[in-house]
Amino acid sequence: MTELNEFLASETNPQIAKIFSAIEKASFIVSKEVGYQGLGDDILGAKGSENSTGDQQQKLDVYADGVLERALRNSGVVAGWASEESDHFVSFEGNEDAAYVVVIDPLDGSSNIDVNVSIGTIFGIYERVSSRREKVMAQDFLQPGRRQVAAGYVLYSVSTQLVLSTGHGVHVFTLEPWKRSYHRILDHVKTPADGKVYSINEVNFDDFNPRLQRFVQYCRDKKNENGKRRYTGRYIGSLVADFHRNLLKGGVYVYPSTGEAPSGKLRLVYECNPMAYLIEQAGGYATDGEKNILDLQPTELHQKSPLYLGSKVMMDEVMKA
Ligand code: AHG
Ligand code: MN
Ligand code: MN
Repeated sequence: MTELNEFLASETNPQIAKIFSAIEKASFIVSKEVGYQGLGDDILGAKGSENSTGDQQQKLDVYADGVLERALRNSGVVAGWASEESDHFVSFEGNEDAAYVVVIDPLDGSSNIDVNVSIGTIFGIYERVSSRREKVMAQDFLQPGRRQVAAGYVLYSVSTQLVLSTGHGVHVFTLEPWKRSYHRILDHVKTPADGKVYSINEVNFDDFNPRLQRFVQYCRDKKNENGKRRYTGRYIGSLVADFHRNLLKGGVYVYPSTGEAPSGKLRLVYECNPMAYLIEQAGGYATDGEKNILDLQPTELHQKSPLYLGSKVMMDEVMKA
């Protein structure tokens, strides 16, 4: 089985390889803390603070944020980063000559932290547009998702896995914790074209627009020739875990706009763009209901976007509905 660093050496340039290896090292630490669940340091529960989107921060959100920031800063190849947990992007002093910036959701699925349910780290990597030798600027982070040079996530679940793309397909690595190394278990993953899963928080049904209601109703009612249900519903409430299951099994994930949240809940820069990049690399696509996510021009770091994402066949069905 190919080890992560071997793979990166042949797949991408040394700087991007170093960025992944910084995330790899940080993920060992976060994965270990996630695994303790109530043992060891006092790391569970709410921090008592809010992030810029108004979410309650969990202690583990803030912990993961710190671990990842240190690792990326010390890598020397990242000029700055923008994290879901901070109001502003940060320029890494001393790294001004670096070519890349990172956008990150350090811990996705906060509500699942304390209950031993899958959570993750989602990230995207861009080449900066500002001039090297200067501090990073807002435009470096507000690039359309299509400009990502790589993206990925770490899933802290029954096992810890790193899923990534550098623009040449999607690859899945599993962590061997006692060796502190990732090994590739799947390469060039293609999401099944015709999946069975639809993933949506149905509590908001009455708030969905009528077209989306029609699609959900279609999924509920549709039967195969043998009279069995065509679709099944699955929703974990951690984007990273819902995405991972649907990537491998085939399905469609929707976090739409609702009356309460007209732009949905997910953040374009930290969540939608990396996932949209990965799903395209796996043969699917993602939209905001109208436009391809990867073509949207972000105007604010923390802006939200509705997200419809999945395998081609199911996405075409949603779009038709
Ligand atoms: P985060 O923990 O980074 O704030 O993200 C939580 C997000 C996402 O992971 C998940 O898909 C969604 O919130 C679930 O929201 P609902 O509980 O509204 O369904
Ligand atoms: Mn998140
Ligand atoms: Mn988060």
